[in-house]
Amino acid sequence: MITHLGRYEIISELGRGAMGIVYKARDPLIERIVAIKAINLQNLTQSEKADYEARFYQEAKVVGRLNHPNIVTIHDLGESGDVAYIAMELMEGSELQNFIADNPNLSIDDKLDIAIQVATGMAYAHQHGIVHRDIKPSNIMVLNGNHVKVADFGIAKMTSSLLHTQTGVIVGSPLYMSPEQVLNLPTDSRSDIFALGIVLYQMLTGRLPFYGDNANSVMYQIVNEVQQTPSLLNPDIPASLDIIVANCLAKKPDDRYQNAHEMVNDLLSCRKILPNSKLDINGNRRYFGSNNFIYDNSIANWIHINKISNWKLICILMLAGFMFTTLYEMIEQLYFDK
Ligand SMILES: Nc1ncnc2c1ncn2[C@@H]1O[C@H](COP(=O)(O)OP(=O)(O)O)[C@@H](O)[C@H]1O
Ligand SMILES: [Mg+2]
Repeated sequence: MITHLGRYEIISELGRGAMGIVYKARDPLIERIVAIKAINLQNLTQSEKADYEARFYQEAKVVGRLNHPNIVTIHDLGESGDVAYIAMELMEGSELQNFIADNPNLSIDDKLDIAIQVATGMAYAHQHGIVHRDIKPSNIMVLNGNHVKVADFGIAKMTSSLLHTQTGVIVGSPLYMSPEQVLNLPTDSRSDIFALGIVLYQMLTGRLPFYGDNANSVMYQIVNEVQQTPSLLNPDIPASLDIIVANCLAKKPDDRYQNAHEMVNDLLSCRKILPNSKLDINGNRRYFGSNNFIYDNSIANWIHINKISNWKLICILMLAGFMFTTLYEMIEQLYFDK
């Protein structure tokens, strides 16, 4: 294993993807632990490399400016020998597919919360002109059991020329591709909505909407077949959620949600009517017993953020009551008993 990439000291390997290896590393300058995605440029000719670098740095300027709680932060990028690298926030959590496997009793409400967080990060990136192009469970991380972050925003674009040059074919699984990606037509933010529709479908039903023995069969289905209605596979799924999934998985981009905000709004409306939802009918979160990620600023939120459990809260209230009684008695003695 390599020991350094630029100034970064490699600690261990975190995982491997189509582009190369992701390492856990230490930045000695800032005394910070980061994740580094290393991209091998070894097999490129000089002009291919120059072409690739121009695209890499151009796209990185835009991606590096993204700053959102549901998106992994990019810290830095550089080159070391024949390796280009991207240093980013280290996420210590579970990839979505592992999180779902480890929590088989996750409610529909919790699954919608995950989709909402992904769509919220997506809406922000799309507003900044960045399309992900590779939304899939291994790019969605769940931290602390409830906070979702999306990795690799814009990376697919930064690296697509490289993959094409090195292999000449589409690399990676087509399972989360949109019809326009399969057909090599122009893609836009609505391709991400399609991919998130597949992730949502898989979370809700435990199955992929388009699946086959080989890549060609999957791609054929993505372009030509209509998915089975989710509620037929899981009767707990409300009809409104069937409609949301259908709005994501429309074959033509014009027939889908036109932006991720629309999808977030529909998912929120759907959550409000679910039995045992952590959202009340007004869309506010219910806190006690909930372990959801928090967005607003109420006292209940403060209690939740500071992980104040019910028994601690009772102690605080009893202490406050005791102090109030003591104060009242003191005032009574001073003014009334004379
Ligand atoms: N910022 C990160 N923090 C922690 N682990 C990461 C980070 N980025 C990627 N990983 C891990 O490295 C693995 C490989 O990542 P990647 O090369 O993006 O491939 P893919 O997304 O196709 O799985 C991922 O499966 C993930 O578990
Ligand atoms: Mg990834």
